[in-house]
Amino acid sequence: MDESTSSSNNTVIDVKHLCKSFGDKQILQDISFQITKGENLVILGKSGSGKSVLIKCIIGLLPIDSGKILINNTVMNEANLSQLNEVRKAVGFLFQSGALYDSLSVMENLVFPLRRKAILKRDQLLAAEEVLKSVGLIDIADKMPSELSGGMRKRLGLARTLITKPQFIFYDEPTTGLDPITSNEISELMNSIQQQFKTTSIIITHDMACAHTTANRMLVLDEGKVLVEGSFDELSQLDNETVKAFFKI
Ligand SMILES: Nc1ncnc2c1ncn2[C@@H]1O[C@H](COP(=O)(O)OP(=O)(O)OP(=O)(O)O)[C@@H](O)[C@H]1O
Ligand SMILES: [Mg+2]
Repeated sequence: MDESTSSSNNTVIDVKHLCKSFGDKQILQDISFQITKGENLVILGKSGSGKSVLIKCIIGLLPIDSGKILINNTVMNEANLSQLNEVRKAVGFLFQSGALYDSLSVMENLVFPLRRKAILKRDQLLAAEEVLKSVGLIDIADKMPSELSGGMRKRLGLARTLITKPQFIFYDEPTTGLDPITSNEISELMNSIQQQFKTTSIIITHDMACAHTTANRMLVLDEGKVLVEGSFDELSQLDNETVKAFFKI
């Protein structure tokens, strides 16, 4: 069998025995997991446990020491730049800050990622309107980012990701810094995006309410290893001090 073939037809991300260190500091040790098409996988882990490094390794932004990473059957750690770029086009990131352009309006922020694509201006505006509707921001298209609340900025960040029609969305702490009500709205929005756009997501979060709302499956990273994997309910029952610490709120 071809080595690059994933074990299941529905497996779209397959991480096998991933090891990553910086100098003599081992960050990730023998990490293995799979993500099925359409799934939301939540990754929990305390600060510094290697969650952001893991995502960067998956997308090929950081070289790995050993193991194998497949996205859509492309072996990321063996791919050339054009293969990497092809896969990266399918991946949208939601950064913690939203990474907005403060001197551009909401609408201009949205059209910006399309500027190099051969898409007519009119179609760009239509696409922008569609995603603004999806994230509930259609009424504020002419506002500047400085006029938006934290929750609105997250929504705009998400709209900017969606306009590129990603197959995957990697969320790095999507609700951090938001009040519980706004945080819940963003979590619900993440679920409606999963349904509407059929996206597959990795969600890094410390927010257990967000995890509860969005996770189809969860994975806990500890000391560079996968400590445990399972549903929110399964993990909430576990008698393990590290896991219990996340659920003890
Ligand atoms: N480019 C780098 N060079 C050297 N060390 C790095 C580099 N990037 C990350 N690290 C180290 O790897 C470890 C994991 O970092 P990472 O950013 O993945 O943590 P994290 O789990 O995302 O934490 P947080 O929840 O605070 O965002 C940290 O000890 C960090 O200092
Ligand atoms: Mg991080």
